[in-house]
Amino acid sequence: MAQERLDKLIASLGEYSRREVKALVKEGRVLVDGRPARSADEKADPAAVTLDGEPLGYTRYTYVMLHKPAGVLSATEDSRQETVLDLLEPPLRRRNLFPVGRLDRDTEGLLLLTNDGPLAHRLLSPKRHVDKEYLARLDGPVGEEDREAFARGVRLGELTCLPAGLSWGEDPTEVLVTLHEGKFHQIKRMFQSRGRTVLYLKRLRMGSLLLDPKLAPGEYRYLTEEEIRKLTENLEK
Ligand code: URA
Repeated sequence: MAQERLDKLIASLGEYSRREVKALVKEGRVLVDGRPARSADEKADPAAVTLDGEPLGYTRYTYVMLHKPAGVLSATEDSRQETVLDLLEPPLRRRNLFPVGRLDRDTEGLLLLTNDGPLAHRLLSPKRHVDKEYLARLDGPVGEEDREAFARGVRLGELTCLPAGLSWGEDPTEVLVTLHEGKFHQIKRMFQSRGRTVLYLKRLRMGSLLLDPKLAPGEYRYLTEEEIRKLTENLEK
């Protein structure tokens, strides 16, 4: 792995500031290849560094799956309102994570938070059409004409949406929608154009990544190696 400055490397884990890393180095708690680091700006291979005798467990990027609750902004900071970053414990907040795409303030469900800019870029790229699945509750039933309109591509003013999936089971007021793009308030506007109002919206899936049903709203966990592998693999195709 590429060499990194010790202060940058250790601070990126979120527990210590760069200034604190300086102190750790002075106290002899940071070793490189088994010998005390000379200074905090020394460069080292992350795999060769230990802190208090423990390997750093350094991974370049962090991937967190959040079950976004309603009432929280999909943003990194806001002077007045709570953001999804405020839901994370402080060390994670210092890892420069950001949400991959946005959910409306009142929408719940799957939100990926990462500091992997290249992956986020690929997931959001309009060219790749990574599909997203949502559960929506409506103020009335949908029918076959709505399904066909979604499949053709709903017109929203100047814009024609890409073909979208619409399906339901026994209750035609509770539907699954699959989008291949992400326009502002897209699902709400698509239903509005069909004379329906969305009462509740939750994202269940983004590409290969499924919302973990064990996560309650507001809870989060790291992605597994397998989930990261599938996400990146599908984008390479
Ligand atoms: N469509 C919407 O209308 N809102 C969301 O948050 C996501 C998709």
